[in-house]
Amino acid sequence: MPSENSAQIPQHIAIIMDGNGRWAKQRGLPRLEGHRRGVETVRTVVDAARELGIRYITLYAFSVENWKRPTEEVSGLMGLLDYFLKRELNNLIKNKVRLLTIGRTDQLPANVQRELNRVKEATKEFTEWTLVLALNYGARTEVADAAKAYAAAVQAGTEKLDDASWENFARYLYTADIPEPDLLVRTSGEQRMSNFLLMQCAYSEMVFTPVLWPDFGKDDLQAAIDEYNKRERRYGLTTEQLKSVSK
Ligand code: IPE
Ligand code: IPE
Ligand code: MG
Repeated sequence: MPSENSAQIPQHIAIIMDGNGRWAKQRGLPRLEGHRRGVETVRTVVDAARELGIRYITLYAFSVENWKRPTEEVSGLMGLLDYFLKRELNNLIKNKVRLLTIGRTDQLPANVQRELNRVKEATKEFTEWTLVLALNYGARTEVADAAKAYAAAVQAGTEKLDDASWENFARYLYTADIPEPDLLVRTSGEQRMSNFLLMQCAYSEMVFTPVLWPDFGKDDLQAAIDEYNKRERRYGLTTEQLKSVSK
């Protein structure tokens, strides 16, 4: 066990990348320009996270609710996603980063699905670093999808209703093979979950920063980790109990 004061690198950081629109508005630019700059931040942050030793990074890129945005913005975002995947493939392979997705990706445009499959396939053997993109993701949709799959397994006889438990249910979530986030970061000053990983963040530490996503950099990531290191994760126990466990 590390001593009380030793800095710990979270194994998994999940980020709600927010503030692209406001970044653009502040500069009198179209919202899509903010998203373009946001894509550059993704590369910077994924590289920085790896350099810091963070094994999993999950980025909330498109929510199930985001389809309700103006058509032009939605198609612009899909175009950027396609561009990002094409551009990042070599970088991910070079750095041995595996790509995973969570969300209903089967409802994304066909060209985006093709690129996603290509990048996932090309990076599937990498085990050290994982980038998870939340695409057409909603926590409530995830729970509904998992409940449906769980019920189907009960019907098929591969699960027993009497064995129903959180641990068994969690195997049907999109995140079945992904550890829970240790740290959740949201940029842009908003302090809400916006339907992101509601179950998986039950015991995640949360850090909210006013920095807009296009301005977020390695120093901001480090600052969030420093804040994380000041927290005591108690999981319902008392400080005294934790001290006796870590001895
Ligand atoms: C986050 O930035 C990106 C997506 C939700 C796709 P926003 O577009 O939400 O930026 P703001 O919140 O309007 O500033
Ligand atoms: C959450 O941001 C979704 C993503 C970052 C992809 P939003 O900007 O959509 O969230 P709200 O609407 O402010 O809650
Ligand atoms: Mg927003």
